This record gives sequence, structure tokens and C-alpha cells, in this order.
Amino acid sequence: SHDHTESTTPVPDLRTAELAEPGAVTIVVPTFNESANIRRLLHQITESVPARLPCEVVFVDDSTDDTPEVVRDAAKDCPYPVTVIHREEPVGGLGGAVVEGIKAAGSDWIVVMDGDCQHPPSLVPELVATGERSGAGLVVASRYIKGGSRAGLAGSYRVAVSRGATWLTKSLFPRRLHGISDPMSGFFAIRRSAVTADVLKPLGYKILLELAVRSRPRRVSEVPFVFQDRFAGESKSSAQEGLRFLRHLAGLRTASPAARMVGFGLIGLTGFLPNLLGLYALTAAGLHYVPAEILANQLGVAWNFVLIEHLLFRDRRSHRRWWDRAGRFALLANADLVLRIPLIALFVHRFGMGALSATALALVTTFVLRFAGTEALVYLP
Ligand code: GDD
Ligand code: MN
Repeated sequence: SHDHTESTTPVPDLRTAELAEPGAVTIVVPTFNESANIRRLLHQITESVPARLPCEVVFVDDSTDDTPEVVRDAAKDCPYPVTVIHREEPVGGLGGAVVEGIKAAGSDWIVVMDGDCQHPPSLVPELVATGERSGAGLVVASRYIKGGSRAGLAGSYRVAVSRGATWLTKSLFPRRLHGISDPMSGFFAIRRSAVTADVLKPLGYKILLELAVRSRPRRVSEVPFVFQDRFAGESKSSAQEGLRFLRHLAGLRTASPAARMVGFGLIGLTGFLPNLLGLYALTAAGLHYVPAEILANQLGVAWNFVLIEHLLFRDRRSHRRWWDRAGRFALLANADLVLRIPLIALFVHRFGMGALSATALALVTTFVLRFAGTEALVYLP
């Protein structure tokens, strides 16, 4: 969804066969205000990628500075075609930019790397060669295998965060990330044929994770690399990017209805906290416990609504206004409460169940009904 494409040097139509011979590579570089790094990066690429390896470089740029102009100028000294896709609407952040670049790529192999010289371009030929040799669809440049290191990860805080995120992610996707020691890496080679572009929902920095989980390349190889220091400028990552990462994880983990139901249940459990706190505060303020419970319940409902909106149904919200969704959700949640008592009575008197098992069954029944109702009546399937 870029508004205009700026082209430089002798640029072939990227989608024609000119570059798409076996072994040809498209280097995709996402950039956000990296003008001070571009010249050095292109120079390093020129030094590293032998002329016999057909190569093109695609920058996908969301900058507010003069990065596109700098690329255009630096490209004059580059033997390969260099293209800038400047996005006026930077959907999906870094990951969205990379997917846009992958779609524009004309080669069998795509190498994704950062624009700040933290990823050594000298590894580009090796990544592709490893893939060709092993038949892998994805070759990850890893900091966590022998010969690799995260030298350029500044500060023990960032190292700890990176370690925790890697551990969490690997535990959430043990099968999909089998054989990938560094799912957080932003440096990798992927075969065009292994990319299923239409199922991708990139959100922020972890595009390798997105590809590994949703495109599921059949075989994966790894090559060690040393994460360098950033050349100029500062990391564009932020606390907000951290939150985006958590939403990305939730979206990936709840792709199936069964997983979504588990998420729905877990979020529902956390709703007891505001519910009980509200009940405590309202009765302490002198309210009778029945209206207090009714009001406090709405607090739990609101809490649950906010969480499922952001974690479970993020990409299915658009067909109703938010207050429409909130109203329907609240209606379902309260219907659940109202339904529970007659349901328990039914189970006890009609089916002769004990009070405890009848209550448990009623809870499960209303839970499943509420989940199905939320899927069908609040969010688009
Ligand atoms: N187009 C676009 N849009 N590019 C972006 C955006 C965006 O919103 N945000 C960042 N970039 C570009 C930067 O300009 C840079 O070229 C590259 O993406 C990496 O961004 P940095 O801000 O330098 O990331 P980092 O160094 O903190 O993190 C890198 O290393 C991590 C591992 O520690 C990235 O490669 C991460 O993906 C990786 O997990
Ligand atoms: Mn960086």
C-alpha cells in the first residue's frame, strides 16, 4: 500500500525474470531514519556480494528524514539495481515493511537485514549458499550458536530482555521454532517459494518469528553471526515496541479457535481481580452487596473486553464500531450470569445432579456459549 515507488539506476521491473535466476538474491532492508548509515551499508554490500551473484537491493522506507534521497544518491556508486519503496502509510512497522519488500522481490532468495550495519553483509552469500546446499527454505543468521555472539546488544538490560523474550517465544512455539536458536534475529535468508505472503500479519520487529510460525518453511538451517555495533544513530525500538511484541505473540498463539478459547478462558480468569477489588471498594463505601456485585461485575466485563480486543480479536474488530462490540460483549457476559442459576436448577431437578457438579457444568456450558457468542456475534469469523 505504498503511495509511490522511487526508482534509481538501471532498474528492471522487479517482477520480471531478469534477476530471477537460481541463486539470485534480493536484499530487503527496512529503514526508518537511517540516512547516516546508508552509504556505508551499500558500500559493505558491494564489497561482500561477488559480482557473479545476481543481486538487487530493495529498501522499504518509513522515514521522516531524507533517507530515500540518500539511498538514491548512494545507489549511483552501486553495481546492483537499488530500489526504494517509500511508504506513506507505515502499516505493520518493521515487519510490514519487510513483507512489502518480499512482495516486490524478483529473486529466488530474499535476504532480510537491518539498515544500521549491525548485520554483516559479508554473510549474505553464505546464507544463500547454505540454503542451496541444504535445501532449506529458511536460513537464520544466529547469535546463539557456536561462532555467533550478540556483541552489539548494548547494555545488560537489553541482553536480559532479549534472553527473556527468546525463552518465552521458544516455549510458546516449541514445534514451529524447532531448530531456530535465534527466533528474534532480524537477519535471515528465505526462499521466495517458502513465503506464504497472504497469510502473514506482520506486527512490529519480529518478522522472522512471523514467517517461521505462519509460513512454516519446511527445512531450516542456521549460520552463526556476530551482531555488530550500530554504526550511526540509535535503535528505533521502544517500550511501545515491547507491547506490540506481546500483541504479536498473542496473535500468533491464538490463530486457531481452540487456542483462542483457551486465551478467552485465561483472560476471563484475570477478570476476577478487578471484579473482587470493585466489590471490596463498593461494599466498603456502604453499598449493599447485591448492587455492588452487579456493578463490580461490569468492571470485570470491561477489563475482559479491553484484553480480548487487544490480544484475541485484534484483526477482526473492524466491521463494528467499538461501542457496538462493547455493548454486545457486555450483553453476553451478563446473560451468562442470568442464565447460570436456571441452568443449575435444570441440572439438579431435571437430571438429578448434585449441586456442585451442576454448578461446574453450568459454568462450563455458559463459558462455551459466551465464547461461541463472542466469536459469532461480536467479531467477524
Ligand atoms: N521501514 C521501517 N519501518 N523500518 C524500521 C522501522 C519501521 O517502523 N522500525 C525500525 N526499522 C528499521 C531500522 O531503520 C533498522 O534499519 C532496522 O529496522 C532495525 O531497527 P533497529 O531499531 O536498529 O533495531 P534493533 O537494533 O533495536 O533490533 C534489531 O536487533 C534485534 C535483535 O537484538 C532488529 O533486527 C530486531 O528485529 C532484532 O530482534
Ligand atoms: Mn539496530
